[in-house]
Amino acid sequence: MARIRYLGHSSFEIRILNKEGVEKRILIDPFITGNPASPVKLDELTGVDLVVVTHGHGDHLGDAISILKKNPNAKVVGIFELANYVAEQIGDSSRAIGGNMGGPMLVDGLKIALTPAMHSSPYGAPTGVVIISEREGVSIYHAGDTGIFATMQLIGEIYKPTVALLPIGGHFTMDPVEAAKAVELIKPKYAIPMHYGTFPVLYGTPEEFKRLVEEKGLPTKVVILKPGEEFEVKG
Ligand code: NI
Ligand code: MN
Repeated sequence: MARIRYLGHSSFEIRILNKEGVEKRILIDPFITGNPASPVKLDELTGVDLVVVTHGHGDHLGDAISILKKNPNAKVVGIFELANYVAEQIGDSSRAIGGNMGGPMLVDGLKIALTPAMHSSPYGAPTGVVIISEREGVSIYHAGDTGIFATMQLIGEIYKPTVALLPIGGHFTMDPVEAAKAVELIKPKYAIPMHYGTFPVLYGTPEEFKRLVEEKGLPTKVVILKPGEEFEVKG
């Protein structure tokens, strides 16, 4: 069973079994300090194996550097330029797993694929990420910050996401209208909205997103998590 805990905004903690059956603790876009929606303190984030960063904006790179400093065994995963930048900041290039969009990277007994994102980033290209546990038969797609793009359909076809974590706030990313269309393209079993409500400019609401997905008659179940809540997912 994989566990997805929402840490507010686009931050998630994922616990998932690798191919040897060892649980890996992964943080995606750990934005804790300065995140009004964060349910945790930075010091609580221990035993971290991987920190995945989708792009270099402050609300995604967030506390990645201090978390990596506090977790000396943790590695950073992201696009080449961003992973190298983070490794430079922590002074340890051996802990950078920098890749690019393409086939998955093989990391710690998991498959981790970087996917396109229609956005911007100060370090390399912005991405989404798919984390795949073949052991669990679970695949989790975190779209990063992105507008909608037709290739989301391919991400759905190739990785068959069990869960899609999708931004819905608008202004910088998709709003509920585009995100509901994205669900139609990706066809995940579950969709969890993110990147809303943190700041006043993010107007999209999870209720509207859920309603729009349901109106389309899609089989996807929308799961709205409050910061701190956890969702358990079986393959
Ligand atoms: Ni961004
Ligand atoms: Mn953002």
